[in-house]
Amino acid sequence: MTEELIVTTSGGVMEIRFNRPEKKNALTRGMYDGVVIAFEAAENDPAIRVIMLTGTGDTFTSGNDIKDFQQRASNSITSAASPFLTALSTLTKPLIAAVNGAAIGVGTTMLAHCDLIVAAKSARFVMPFTRLGLVPEAGSSLLFPQLLGHQRASAMLLLGDALDAGAALAAGFVYQVVDDADLISAARALAGRLAALPPQAIRQTKHLMRRGKTGLSDRISEELDLFRERVQSPEAAEAFAAFMEKRAPDFSRFS
Ligand code: COA
Repeated sequence: MTEELIVTTSGGVMEIRFNRPEKKNALTRGMYDGVVIAFEAAENDPAIRVIMLTGTGDTFTSGNDIKDFQQRASNSITSAASPFLTALSTLTKPLIAAVNGAAIGVGTTMLAHCDLIVAAKSARFVMPFTRLGLVPEAGSSLLFPQLLGHQRASAMLLLGDALDAGAALAAGFVYQVVDDADLISAARALAGRLAALPPQAIRQTKHLMRRGKTGLSDRISEELDLFRERVQSPEAAEAFAAFMEKRAPDFSRFS
């Protein structure tokens, strides 16, 4: 498994840590694949009761690696995020996120599939898809209006406005906000409580709660079809180039 992902297990809790701090934990193919392998291992191991996600350094994750997006656009290589999204949205064991700093793009959309989210005061949730010439993924076009209401979801998904930790707590998007120094211990405390509860009752309750989200897998597929087109669009090419060249994008030539 890649060193960009650290997977450890203790007391029935599997911790998965995005570990590419020099690139703000931007997710590469190897990292997506590693999470899928870890999820499968957790699902198949009765000793693992809970899974926890977090990131190294000052960022939870800055989302998909934009360089990978550029390569996909020029080589038509397949999306590494697709198996990740399937595994994430069908996980039967409880998933906790400990969000340190910014959670961008899929860094925020993946959180809609987490059962409990603990945010550090530094946490910030941003989905800059339209700014990148893209559309949302991970079922976020369905889940965020349900979670946050249409107006706030529009501000985040259309405008790319950020939600800070306090606003996320007020909106019910996260369960707890704690000091940065207390993030991991607070998330581990929740994970430990879940791990001590009867595992079948926990899995069945999670399954029942998910049944309210009808149409989720269809929406994830529909979004991915559009996303694959968008990632190869001239609008996205301009946005990716602007990011890599550290300049503002110019969308004025597009109709
Ligand atoms: N893909 C690829 N590289 C990324 C990245 C991403 N998603 N996010 C950050 N990086 C890289 C930067 O290019 C930079 O690389 P360099 O040191 O070789 O120049 C390095 O990580 C540090 O990022 P930098 O932008 O200098 O740090 P910052 O503290 O000023 O800002 C972020 C941090 C996360 C706010 C900013 O990097 C950002 O907005 N990233 C892009 C997020 C994004 O749009 N993700 C895609 C969502 S679909």
